[in-house]
Amino acid sequence: MIHSTIVGTGSYLPGEPVTNDDLVARGIETSDEWIVARTGIRARHFAAPGVTASELALVAARRAIEAAGCAVDDIDLVIVATSTPDYIFPSTATLVQAGLGIRNGGAAFDVQAVCCGFVYGLAIAEKFIASGSHRRALVIGAEVFSRILDWADRGTCVLFGDGAGAVVLEASSTPGVRATALHADGRHNAILCVPGNVAAGKVTGDPFLRMDGQAVFKFAVKVLGDVAQEVIALAGVPQASIDWLVPHQANIRIIQSTARRLGLPMDKVVTTVDRHGNTSAASVPIALDCAVRAGQIRAGQRIVIEGVGGGFTWGAALIDF
Ligand code: ACO
Repeated sequence: MIHSTIVGTGSYLPGEPVTNDDLVARGIETSDEWIVARTGIRARHFAAPGVTASELALVAARRAIEAAGCAVDDIDLVIVATSTPDYIFPSTATLVQAGLGIRNGGAAFDVQAVCCGFVYGLAIAEKFIASGSHRRALVIGAEVFSRILDWADRGTCVLFGDGAGAVVLEASSTPGVRATALHADGRHNAILCVPGNVAAGKVTGDPFLRMDGQAVFKFAVKVLGDVAQEVIALAGVPQASIDWLVPHQANIRIIQSTARRLGLPMDKVVTTVDRHGNTSAASVPIALDCAVRAGQIRAGQRIVIEGVGGGFTWGAALIDF
């Protein structure tokens, strides 16, 4: 059996942090106190006008490749998870492939599973590698959510930020990714969506993010607890052997509730949401990279990553690092 293991991580947050007080100074009717108490978010980063998801992805990808110590042409699969692609097409993944100078004709495509996109991408890459068709995948989450925020909707615009995170996943003889679980339930698509499109040269529908915050909160806490338990059971390992949980970084209260459901103390949970807000598909690989570079997650440790996003989609992976 061909296993796969993470051999490098990288991430990138553009520009300077924008604090909650900075948002107030920009005219948003909110307060640091409200945002911190409800979400744990203290700052986020926004890409400069004109900077695209593929540009953020490229920086994170180069850092992950450098950490992996491989050549760009060793990568035969590029998967970019994003809901804010540069274009309708070509895919952001092909732009990243070209930007990195990969010329080996490997596969490149985008995955659209919103905030769970990176977990979907990693699970897909693991299956490609297990099949023997590919040997080394670059899996990226990259978003410029600032482009789809309605700045007049204070219930959503304070929650999100821009950024990118990446991993290099490589074929190995010993298990790294031990179990994955992916789910979706399209009946809940209206509680978190951007219900617009471009047709006949015009935006049709609504091009901004809309959310029923309380419905999302309840749904997220339930499925994140369930899916973490599911991958632990699938991997057949004791829950006590988990060194770190790396959850989707949307809201500290969702993260705390999930940890409580799993009986995990918060000192085993990676939290970076305070520094960058919700970066959707980028949030899990950014958190993972921050924890690796801070020396929290180390070789030989066992982690669970998990995400939940619009659609609704949710999933997790149990990984020996
Ligand atoms: N600043 C100040 N006041 C605000 C703000 C703001 N930014 N936004 C809303 N309010 C006000 C509302 O107007 C309302 O005022 P009112 O009582 O006078 O009418 C009051 O705060 C309460 O509003 P609610 O929407 O009920 O606030 P709630 O306690 O539900 O918190 C929040 C909202 C933070 C969005 C919460 O529902 C939540 O955390 N939901 C999860 C959503 C989430 O994390 N989404 C991320 C994307 S989903 C994902 O990644 C899977």
